[in-house]
Amino acid sequence: MNKITLYPDKKLHPLGDLYGIFFEDINHAADGGLYAEMVQNRSFEFDTIDNRRYNPLTAWETLGCEVRVENAYPLNRNNTHYLVIEVNDYECGVENHGFNDGMHIKKGERYKFSFYARRNTGFSKDVNIRLVSKETGPVACETIKITSCDWEKYQCVLTAEESGVCYLVITTSGKSLVYLDDVSLFPENTYKNRENGLRRDIATLLAELKPKFMRFPGGCLVHDGNLDPHARNSLYRWKNTIGDVSERPTRRSNWGYNQTLGLGYYEYFLFCEDIGAKPLPVLPAAYNPHHHDAVPFDELKPWIDDALDLIEFANGTTETKWGKIRAELGHSEPFNLEYLAIGNEEVGDDFFERYPYFHKAIKEKYPEIKLIGSSGPFPCGGEFEKGWKCARENKSEMVDEHYYVSPEWMIANNKRYFEYKKDDPKVFLGEYASWGNTFYNALCEASYMTAMETSGNVALACYAPLLCNADYVNWKPDLIWFNGESAYGTPNYYVQKLFMNNQGDSAIEHSVVSEKNSVALSDENITGEIFFKTVDTEAQFYDIKINGKTVNEKGFTLKREGSQMKKLEEVGILGDFELECKAKELDGKRGFIICFGVKGYGNLYHWEFGGWQNQDSAVCSTVNYRESVLAHELRSVEKDREYTLKVVVRKNVILCYIDNELVHEAVVKPAVVEPVYTASSVNEDGSVVLKVVNLQDTEYNAEIETNMNIQRVAGEVITGDLNAENSFENPKNIVPCNIAFEYEGSVIKHSFPSHSVTVIVING
Ligand code: AHR
Repeated sequence: MNKITLYPDKKLHPLGDLYGIFFEDINHAADGGLYAEMVQNRSFEFDTIDNRRYNPLTAWETLGCEVRVENAYPLNRNNTHYLVIEVNDYECGVENHGFNDGMHIKKGERYKFSFYARRNTGFSKDVNIRLVSKETGPVACETIKITSCDWEKYQCVLTAEESGVCYLVITTSGKSLVYLDDVSLFPENTYKNRENGLRRDIATLLAELKPKFMRFPGGCLVHDGNLDPHARNSLYRWKNTIGDVSERPTRRSNWGYNQTLGLGYYEYFLFCEDIGAKPLPVLPAAYNPHHHDAVPFDELKPWIDDALDLIEFANGTTETKWGKIRAELGHSEPFNLEYLAIGNEEVGDDFFERYPYFHKAIKEKYPEIKLIGSSGPFPCGGEFEKGWKCARENKSEMVDEHYYVSPEWMIANNKRYFEYKKDDPKVFLGEYASWGNTFYNALCEASYMTAMETSGNVALACYAPLLCNADYVNWKPDLIWFNGESAYGTPNYYVQKLFMNNQGDSAIEHSVVSEKNSVALSDENITGEIFFKTVDTEAQFYDIKINGKTVNEKGFTLKREGSQMKKLEEVGILGDFELECKAKELDGKRGFIICFGVKGYGNLYHWEFGGWQNQDSAVCSTVNYRESVLAHELRSVEKDREYTLKVVVRKNVILCYIDNELVHEAVVKPAVVEPVYTASSVNEDGSVVLKVVNLQDTEYNAEIETNMNIQRVAGEVITGDLNAENSFENPKNIVPCNIAFEYEGSVIKHSFPSHSVTVIVING
């Protein structure tokens, strides 16, 4: 019999705020998502800067009249464009199509409509505001009279008589010019009925996770853009996101759409409070790593002031400048900010040179704030190491790690955080996921989380990305999917929920003695074919040698047309080898890719020198089409320069050389599935939590022994087909269910099903 023994009296470490969420406006997660505004392009500010397909009338349709967008007499200096309708006797106007397939209106619900408008002298006709179903016609109607030739706000409430997928229709008659801006429609029924609030169904799914913290507002969103806060495509500057929504500047998001910033810092803080999550903002570090734009050192002050002012905005008394602004916005009590991240997955010395200025200034004024440094977008490599060095030198409380990997990487690297030093800064795993939303992905993530929890070196962790609008996908997998009608959690969501709802206050010691064996999923050594590859790049490969012997002297040229590949036909399947070649980039965007250990298209290793905007050199493994980075450095390929590239494979070790300089050394860890993965914790009320993940395809029969006189045992299990996913049609395909336990005295006997995550809560 397998045996798990729990020692509730032996506390290992507090679990604190371990499990949280990360919100980024990616995949239309805010506008067209969590932010409940139903009108798309409400301020006529859409522009080709945001997206090549946009224009100021995107999402708007004219109804029988001439309209244009002007900017001569704007609503305010941030909201410069407005709509002009030339009304010509008969009923005419415009309609807004909202997001997705239209506005999903529900019978009996009330919708708050508002706009800013002005008229020409003498115009006195009613303006008709209607919600019109595409199927059945109008479902709600109201009228508004525009009474001024200056901008005024007008509002009404529309009550839906029927349900339907609707457009918002605004019409009038008479003969005049009518001017509109900031046209808005919100369901009254937002989450906690907040003004300018959040979509109830999505917010409820988030609240039900019971996250301990929420990281926001990004992601790449934070550090991609212009250094000028007034630029349309500015880096994310929080001060642009508070106050009257009609005065917030519109913003280009690097995710290829427009951000109204209607969901801004005040709303984020409020939402955190509403769901009981500690706020964890991420500020840009005066540096855009995507385009290597850095603020000169003598101009850092406004950026550092942004950080100091944010802390005052969140925590200052109403006597302080920013605390007073918070109170004026409606929240005189502080938001109790405890954590602050400077930078999102930064790479480049420009960041590491600037971070200390932020750190010093913040710690001088607010020593209690826990500061989080950054270590790039990969789990290893030169920039990753620099991130850790920078955090150690500055004594940051945490380092933000990010990685998206194959499920097998998670299995192979299960013990990663046991290798971290106790006296180092703690880990903030600010973004992680295995590639996919199947139950198998969720299961592998669960196995990884048990070790994260037990190691004691991870202080905070959140899956990424959080939300995805199914019609505007920038990135997948995601935790929650939604459309205009509904939202559902993925199996990954339900695993996160199980862990978050049952975190426990302190990890406790426990032991596992298994009769079952581990199961290896992959070969320990690297073997396979060799390919050369380029992407959007013309390059020559020649003088190719294997183990010192020339196999193709003349070589070949790969064209600059998408993805180009050539197999090294001269050799077959190779294990230990030394491959050397000359390579020259002739034209294009990237550099050279050498694939090895290739076992079909979806299973291979590769080294790319000159990847991602020709900035990176990385060694990756791909398992079933899912990639993980094994080594990384910042390196660019120079055009027309001859390089000598060498790849040496020795069993499971990969060495890569550029012009005889060792650039990467990667050790491939084999994916071996343990008999079971466990984590255990105790709550302040004395209840004990045991999490058990069975990744194997046979059940795990165990006796669970505690030193408690067990009175009550409750628990949940999530299990199913490894390939199963949830969907709009079948949102509860994979969800946890309650289970009963057999127990006597201090012992519980349980059979953990194959492919399952079980959480047991034991009360003595
Ligand atoms: O989570 C999606 C993106 O992944 C984030 O914006 C970025 O930080 C990371 O590269």
